[in-house]
Amino acid sequence: MILPIRAYGDPVLKKVAQDIKPGHAGLQQLIADMYETMYAANGVGLAAPQVGQSIRLFIVDASPFAVDEDGKPTEEAYLKDFKKVFINPYIVDEEGEEWPFEEGCLSIPGIRENVSRQSRIVLQYLDEDFKAHEEAYEGFAARVIQHEHDHLDGILFVDHLPALRRRLLQGKLRDLSRGKTDASYKLRFTPMK
Ligand code: NI
Repeated sequence: MILPIRAYGDPVLKKVAQDIKPGHAGLQQLIADMYETMYAANGVGLAAPQVGQSIRLFIVDASPFAVDEDGKPTEEAYLKDFKKVFINPYIVDEEGEEWPFEEGCLSIPGIRENVSRQSRIVLQYLDEDFKAHEEAYEGFAARVIQHEHDHLDGILFVDHLPALRRRLLQGKLRDLSRGKTDASYKLRFTPMK
């Protein structure tokens, strides 16, 4: 089932999400719904708070970036297996030089901005079977995880922008919270004052 995505202004996007316990009711269905929702919106990642659940869960699928339109491997060929479910993820180490990358977010349609983040992370998380993993990621994969991991701490990419840049976006963000967007997917709005 496709779920409405919470737009900027919804308080659930500002909350710190709770850890998930094994046996969490409806978890497999939620994961399936999140994949359906993300694909319908052409997203690369989606965090549970974006569909109104304040729990530590996000999904990613960057595998389409691993091949070109002819099916040949791209420079990002390492992304071919980067379709994953992350439960209770925590970034335990972040290193390397900061690099800028233009980020967008399904909760903030129509706005893309350069965000600087460090290049390499180490992440602890549980997979769908609640098996623990610790893995290192870099490049685009690290970037996607950093963005989604932020959602679980109530942080949006616009929160990383310099104060002036953020101030310039304020009007647009307020309009978005009131439903002004031409996004082609289902959103749910909470008007900001
Ligand atoms: Ni996002």
